Amino acid sequence: MRLLQIIRPQHLPDTYSILTDMTNITQALHWRYATKQFDTTKKLSDDTVNALKESIQMSPSSFGLQPYKILNVTNPEIREKLKAAAWGQTQLTDASHLFVFAVPADITDTDVDAFISLNMSVRGSTAEDLAGYSSMIKGSVNSRTSEQKQAWAAKQAYIALGFLLETAALLEVDATPMEGFDAGQFDEILGLKEKNLKSVVICALGYRSAEDTYANLPKVRASAETLFLNM
Ligand SMILES: Cc1cc2nc3c(=O)[nH]c(=O)nc-3n(C[C@H](O)[C@H](O)[C@H](O)COP(=O)(O)O)c2cc1C
Repeated sequence: MRLLQIIRPQHLPDTYSILTDMTNITQALHWRYATKQFDTTKKLSDDTVNALKESIQMSPSSFGLQPYKILNVTNPEIREKLKAAAWGQTQLTDASHLFVFAVPADITDTDVDAFISLNMSVRGSTAEDLAGYSSMIKGSVNSRTSEQKQAWAAKQAYIALGFLLETAALLEVDATPMEGFDAGQFDEILGLKEKNLKSVVICALGYRSAEDTYANLPKVRASAETLFLNM
C-alpha cells in the first residue's frame, strides 16, 4: 500500500519527492514504529538509501556546522560484533542498513575554518565577508569544554536522526532509533578513536518482518492537552 502522494518537481532528481498531503504525512507517522524484527530478505534500494542519506544532509544544525558523521555499517561480521555490544538486539544484524551517528571527540578552529571555506565556495563569499561569522562561531565553540562540545554535537546529531526517521516513515521504510548499546565498545569495534569520533545513537533501517507483533500495538503517546501548554 502506498501511503503517500508524491510530486516530483522538474528541477529535482527523480528520487527527490515533495509531499503535499498532510493526511498522508500523519498516516505515515502513525504507520511507523520502532521496529523490533526486520525481514532479513528485504533490502533497501540504492535510490531509497540515497533519499534517506539526503534527509540527514539536509538536516539543520547549529551555525550549519553539521558536527557529526554517519557510519553506514555494511560488513556482516562487524554487525555481529555490534549486536553483541547492543545486548543482542537483532535489528543490528537483521535490518537492511545500519547507520551509526558519531560526534567529534573535539571541535576545533580547523573544523570551523573548513565550514567557512565550504560556505565561501558554495555562496561565493570572501573570507572578509565571513570573518565576523567565523570568529562568532569560534567564540561559541571554544567557550565549551570537549565534553560540552560532544553533548552539543550530539544534540545536532539527534536532529539529523529525527529527519531520517520522518523521511523513512514517508518513504515507507521501517526504522529503529537505538541508544541501547555500549558506546565504548562500539567505538572500539568501529575504530572510532582513531577517527576522533564517538558513537552517540544508531538507526537500523529496512522492512518489518510480518511476524513483528509490535507493528500492531496502539501508540502510547501523551495527549495533546498534556503535551502542549498554552501560555
Ligand atoms: C533515542 C532513542 C533510543 C531508543 N533506543 C531503543 C533501543 O535501543 N532499542 C529499541 O528496540 N528501541 C529503542 N527506541 C525506540 C523507543 O522505545 C520507541 O520509539 C518508543 O517506545 C515509542 O514507540 P514507537 O517509536 O514504536 O512509536 C529508542 C528510541 C529513541 C528515540
